[in-house]
Amino acid sequence: MTLQDLMPALVRQMAAFPRADAVRDIRRLAAHVLQVSPDRMTLHMGDDVTAGQKAQLHVLIARRAAHEPVSKLIGQRAFWGRDFAVTPDVLDPRPETECLIEACLGAGPAARVLDLGTGSGAIAVTLAAEWDAAAVTATDLSHAALDVARQNAVRHDVGARIEFVGSDWFDAVDGCYDLIVSNPPYIALAEMTGLAPEVRGHDPRMALTDEADGLTCYRIICDGALAKMVSGGRLAVEIGPTQGDAVALMMQEAGLVEIEIRPDLDGRNRVVLGRNR
Ligand SMILES: C[S@@+](CC[C@H](N)C(=O)[O-])C[C@H]1O[C@@H](n2cnc3c(N)ncnc32)[C@H](O)[C@@H]1O
Repeated sequence: MTLQDLMPALVRQMAAFPRADAVRDIRRLAAHVLQVSPDRMTLHMGDDVTAGQKAQLHVLIARRAAHEPVSKLIGQRAFWGRDFAVTPDVLDPRPETECLIEACLGAGPAARVLDLGTGSGAIAVTLAAEWDAAAVTATDLSHAALDVARQNAVRHDVGARIEFVGSDWFDAVDGCYDLIVSNPPYIALAEMTGLAPEVRGHDPRMALTDEADGLTCYRIICDGALAKMVSGGRLAVEIGPTQGDAVALMMQEAGLVEIEIRPDLDGRNRVVLGRNR
């Protein structure tokens, strides 16, 4: 039996999903099971599938049909052109966070970078890889997340330039930085029930929400940032689309200048930037 023969049964397993989404996800999961590049799946649709591969595929599709994200099923997610290992202990790196990377890279190389709440290490590893002279400190309250981030740093050959620190925001952070960057948990408690099951059930709760109004972490980060930044240093944070004005005001009240709110390609506010005098 070929993958092409198997396709109708697999699509039926995902009947609750729009057909185009089901086919896309089945192809991605099949590429994982057959160990071929997802870009080359079309060439492999006529390949024979072993009984073991067929069984594995049915299990993965059943889990996907129960709203487990593809990235968590295959254990990796692409971010800024690199593949990152992801586990249930880390937030799936999102395309929105690539806006934050773009904003950081656009401001020019920073020698000392602090990434608060590193999760999979997507931001810390990407900036270390893009700026080959940067020394990065990556923190998280979750030691399980730090283990995943360490693994990703080794995978992308930047492990020697990233220090991983277990810390409640700035508590265990030493030194002063040219760039402080963060994508903190910013979903308000009241918005949690409205999240897609892929997010609510599979990203760590502590990566999603502050259990309050969604702004708690920005208050802590803006209050503490100045003491950890060099003169001329920058602060860059990802935000939820409605949080721009509130976070910009926090940066202003903290004494930062050149505050800017940046939208994504869809025009939704995604990043707030500020500079120390
Ligand atoms: C939205 S996720 C961002 C993960 C990653 N930086 C990314 O952009 O994909 C927020 C991260 O903050 C971490 N976090 C939550 N509370 C924290 C705290 N009090 N101190 C440090 N990190 C915290 C979570 O464990 C999670 O990894």
